[in-house]
Amino acid sequence: MNILVINGPNLNLLGKREPEIYGHETLEELMTWLETSPEAVDINFKFYQSNHEGEIIDIIQDERLWYDGIIINPGAFAHYSYAIRDAISSVNKPTVEVHLSDIQNRESFRKELVISDVCEKTISGIGKKAYLDALQYIKIN
Ligand code: DQA
Repeated sequence: MNILVINGPNLNLLGKREPEIYGHETLEELMTWLETSPEAVDINFKFYQSNHEGEIIDIIQDERLWYDGIIINPGAFAHYSYAIRDAISSVNKPTVEVHLSDIQNRESFRKELVISDVCEKTISGIGKKAYLDALQYIKIN
């Protein structure tokens, strides 16, 4: 099974960025943890991080013949990018949205989720385990 993992804007700063909210691990550490977890045996991953909406859309489109599912942490794009929402909807592949923090219990603008209705599931508030739960969900569905 081939899984595309996309991390959106500012997630490249994980470890340094507001560690009290997002933790002390870097994005690379997090993705290595996911890739080497027992659940990831037999899974091929491609990992992308971008701070740019158009690049994220290009990745979703360009890799569509390769992947069987998408795990995406859209960062703040989760709250307003109809373009990323449409890209996910266009490729018609199982997609799980993840957030490290508990977006329902932070600033009110984070409660608005414009991508989640085209995702099979949205997981937040459990830190890095969200990526693993997303993988398990895609594997069994
Ligand atoms: C985030 C939550 C978003 O609201 C925020 O803009 C991020 C990170 C998370 O992983 O908790 O950049 O997606």
